[in-house]
Amino acid sequence: ATKEKEIMKEGHELLARLYHHCLTNTEYGQKAKEYLYNRGFTDEMIDHFQIGFAPESWDFATSFLQKRNFTLQTMEEAGILAKREFDRKFYDRFRSRIMFPIWDTQGKNIAFGGRIMGDGEPKYLNSPETRIFHKSKTLYGYHMARPDMRKDDKAILFEGYVDVIAAWKAGITNAVATLGTSLTQDQAKLLSRNVNTVVICYDSDQAGINAAFRATEHIEKMDCNVRIAQMPPGLDPDDYIQNYGGERFKQDVLGASLTVMAFKMQFMRRGKNLQDEGERMRYIEEILHEIAKLPKAVERDHYLRQLAEEFNLSLDALKQQQYQAFVNQK
Ligand code: CTP
Ligand code: MN
Ligand code: MN
Ligand code: MN
Ligand code: MN
Repeated sequence: ATKEKEIMKEGHELLARLYHHCLTNTEYGQKAKEYLYNRGFTDEMIDHFQIGFAPESWDFATSFLQKRNFTLQTMEEAGILAKREFDRKFYDRFRSRIMFPIWDTQGKNIAFGGRIMGDGEPKYLNSPETRIFHKSKTLYGYHMARPDMRKDDKAILFEGYVDVIAAWKAGITNAVATLGTSLTQDQAKLLSRNVNTVVICYDSDQAGINAAFRATEHIEKMDCNVRIAQMPPGLDPDDYIQNYGGERFKQDVLGASLTVMAFKMQFMRRGKNLQDEGERMRYIEEILHEIAKLPKAVERDHYLRQLAEEFNLSLDALKQQQYQAFVNQK
């Protein structure tokens, strides 16, 4: 059975090479290459992440693997091929898509993410869960980012493959991405084994903000520090880098990352007029509520002081009010 898993990985490996060749050296890949160039991909990025192209064919991968003496049934179980119900014939799962190989922690190719060129559904077609690919335990780019994550004692966490790739081009080589789901406990564990700080840099829409809070819980559970980096609304990290360049991304986005508490404070301020006494009081109460949830006394003290200073309140009054809120909650 171990042997079969190895064969599944080998099938991925060979196919990834073929898809990459197809993109970079054949006319089938011409349009895909133009699409990537238009999006700011360079040959260097395409090579480093072994990006490829699956041509518009039902049997490109199938016949290649067959010629190489792979058992097609095994390749179906590996997620590379699919099986037609009515005549039990195998066919290519990925057709006419830009192919992003996905690796396990050892750097073995275990799955693919396939992006459609331009608009269309689904935008990404990913390998299904298989015996070698467990989405919830995999982080895109992990094995490449690991040395620099350890060196910096810090990991950057993105939402998308393309974000990792764009960041790499900008010299940010300690970044990984989840695979279209929010961060799992297993993935948080993987990060915490290597670093003490994770900077979450998710898309700046409401979904991204919610996902960042969920990810924070998992990461903090592993005794790892979290910082949150934000982009202007509507941009993801790749968009930002394309628009403003890598240096500004490093300075104004990653460099301006906030602690979770500071991020929450900023978040709760949004749409509130703090000149208005009622709204100000409501804001202070919300923050007190958040501060009360912090596990460490030093941290609670730090933010209480900060709040007291900002609104010119006495620390005692704040502590009193927090205590009162705590009692009322029970
Ligand atoms: N994703 C997915 N299936 C989809 C859409 C998204 O699996 N239909 C996953 C992919 O792993 C993708 C990540 O979610 O990388 C983030 O999604 P999104 O932000 O929409 O994609 P981008 O990474 O920004 O991709 P692109 O820039 O090519 O649009
Ligand atoms: Mn190459
Ligand atoms: Mn998104
Ligand atoms: Mn995105
Ligand atoms: Mn994007």
